[in-house]
Amino acid sequence: MINAKAIHKRFGTVKALKGIDLDIKEGELYGLLGPNGAGKTTTINILSTLLKPDNGSVFINGLDILKNPVSSKKNIGIVPQEVALYEDLSALDNLLFWGGLYGNPASQIRSRANEMLRLFGLSDRRNDTIKKYSGGMKRRINIASALLHNPKVLFMDEPTVGIDPQSRNKIYEVIGQLHSNGLTIIYTTHYMEEVEKLCERVGIIDYGEIIAEGTVEELRNRSNTTSIINVALENPGNANLKDLQKSFETVEVDQNNQLVFRCKDSDKKLSGIVKYMDQHNLMISSIDVKKASLENIFLELTGRKLRD
Ligand SMILES: Nc1ncnc2c1ncn2[C@@H]1O[C@H](COP(=O)(O)OP(=O)(O)OP(=O)(O)O)[C@@H](O)[C@H]1O
Ligand SMILES: [Mg+2]
Repeated sequence: MINAKAIHKRFGTVKALKGIDLDIKEGELYGLLGPNGAGKTTTINILSTLLKPDNGSVFINGLDILKNPVSSKKNIGIVPQEVALYEDLSALDNLLFWGGLYGNPASQIRSRANEMLRLFGLSDRRNDTIKKYSGGMKRRINIASALLHNPKVLFMDEPTVGIDPQSRNKIYEVIGQLHSNGLTIIYTTHYMEEVEKLCERVGIIDYGEIIAEGTVEELRNRSNTTSIINVALENPGNANLKDLQKSFETVEVDQNNQLVFRCKDSDKKLSGIVKYMDQHNLMISSIDVKKASLENIFLELTGRKLRD
């Protein structure tokens, strides 16, 4: 559905994109995960015809969007990072305005706008002006306005940043519904939990390059850390970190005085840990085994944290 090759974009001396390749299938929910300034918005803007790349090619639904930007727009819905709505118009009028830009008949736009208001749980507030809306409600209308013309592909640029949990959950729920209806969705975020929860496949972007791609499980298996074992001791003062590090390479003490072991094979490691504690008279008060998050994978790939 989306095929992009070797996209480059430079802003003055800043190389924002250094050769992005993407191949996204119809109906896929693809997450583009990266820290501030990684190039997420630049990528989304190029894929949705808002910005021209310096070079490279983009095909959406078989159409070369650089050669056919106008007809490509029909296939594309975009939810920009910044909310774009008229504050003095009602939610319904905003939707009618945005829906009107695609040249569909007025009655069709109205029924689709009402359908979207229902989908996003805002039917009863449809006649309120946008300025009376909370940030999260504005965000829901912003997404609704991208869907009015029934696009084949929806680009969402960090749609849940800075909003209340109720709106966030509604947005996740709607994304789930749209996905099960077969819409192709590209979702950018710097929240790895969102990608882990929502996306089928993820591309990790950093300094204008996709540095890893796959399902969350594939990325986890590719990394040296697939699990994290947290051990709390009754007598943590008796533990000798240097000695522990001789037996277990990747062990640290966290701010709660717990031991944190990063490992690839948690079962094997677990029995080794219990044995070690037993031999050194260290009393375990709790052990907790977690799957490694994408944060660890990012850290391993770049040596930096995803969030600053
Ligand atoms: N219009 C512009 N003019 C100059 N530099 C720009 C412009 N737009 C983006 N950049 C630069 O390009 C790089 C990528 O920016 P982009 O907005 O794509 O990142 P992002 O991943 O969306 O970040 P964020 O998480 O902060 O939204 C950054 O270094 C940014 O400063
Ligand atoms: Mg951005």
